[in-house]
Amino acid sequence: MGAGGAERAIPVQVGRYLVRSTLGAGGMGVVLRAHDPALGRDVAVKLLRPGSDASPKALARFQREARALGRLRHPGIVRVLDADEHEGHPFFVMELIEGESLEDRLQRAGHLPLADALRMGEDLARALHHAHGEGVLHRDVKPGNVLLCADGTALLADFGLAKDLAAASRFSLTAEGATLGTLGFMPPEQFEDARSADVRSDVFSLGATVYAALSGRPPFPATAVRDYYMAMVHGRWPRPTSLRPELPAGVDAVCEGCLAARGVDRYATARDLAEDWPGCDGASRPWPDRDRPARRAARSSRWARSWQRPSATPPPRAGRRAWRP
Ligand SMILES: Nc1ncnc2c1ncn2[C@@H]1O[C@H](COP(=O)(O)OP(=O)(O)O)[C@@H](O)[C@H]1O
Ligand SMILES: [Mg+2]
Repeated sequence: MGAGGAERAIPVQVGRYLVRSTLGAGGMGVVLRAHDPALGRDVAVKLLRPGSDASPKALARFQREARALGRLRHPGIVRVLDADEHEGHPFFVMELIEGESLEDRLQRAGHLPLADALRMGEDLARALHHAHGEGVLHRDVKPGNVLLCADGTALLADFGLAKDLAAASRFSLTAEGATLGTLGFMPPEQFEDARSADVRSDVFSLGATVYAALSGRPPFPATAVRDYYMAMVHGRWPRPTSLRPELPAGVDAVCEGCLAARGVDRYATARDLAEDWPGCDGASRPWPDRDRPARRAARSSRWARSWQRPSATPPPRAGRRAWRP
């Protein structure tokens, strides 16, 4: 972010952080591996891509990502350590995750083993539920935004499209009718208007992400937009067991509870989903009923409504377990 040139190079230093290499790059941002000489450790630094003409909205989103991450504290969410400006450009610093993104893993290995995918699904669903409890929607859960540590732990990253409910009531960074998210993983309501995304939209995207981890491909084609949309609203996606017959039928049922076209037919909360992933291999619990998500949706509607208030806290766990067979 030094001087001159449309194609400005990655800086050698950002604030006090000495850049070592590039970890990843998206539309507007770049994530760098860097060394923090003050604390003698390596970190990940995210900054707006050098040379990009960031609009005020892009800048505001970037700063909002740092703030959203700053208030989330969960073992399944990447931690932010610092935020500052370098030569007038904002950046923030995260713990460095030594591993790879789920997207890279899938490109390398095709799919995850069942046990790893279920553990990942549970970890991420609990992480999402924490974010939702803090009033933060992710809106871009997908394999590129999931980081896998060497020990198999999964973390949710990239809150760049996050929606902060408290701020949203005062002003919106999302234009009316705008589509924000990623084809292949985005639910119909978000496709139509990103502002209508809610807890269940993140549930859909997480379901699509775990589906991809299990089967090695996203549930919906990310080719023609019309085909994608029609496949979503008509529920035309190959069941994971039809792609990998060795998978237990419970996997299909949980995916159905995530990928339903209508939000009301999905798991009402990410925690409901977290509780079903580990049992769907039939090893520790009975396979989920096919109608379980809908029954849960009805039971949880009070929680779903109360979530609309940023200060809301989840209902007590005990009552929610009462119906369990
Ligand atoms: N904290 C981190 N530690 C290690 N690698 C990371 C970290 N955060 C991001 N990355 C890498 O950088 C890539 C892009 O990060 P992301 O936050 O998704 O940025 P973008 O907004 O450009 O998509 C990720 O897919 C991952 O490979
Ligand atoms: Mg990303």
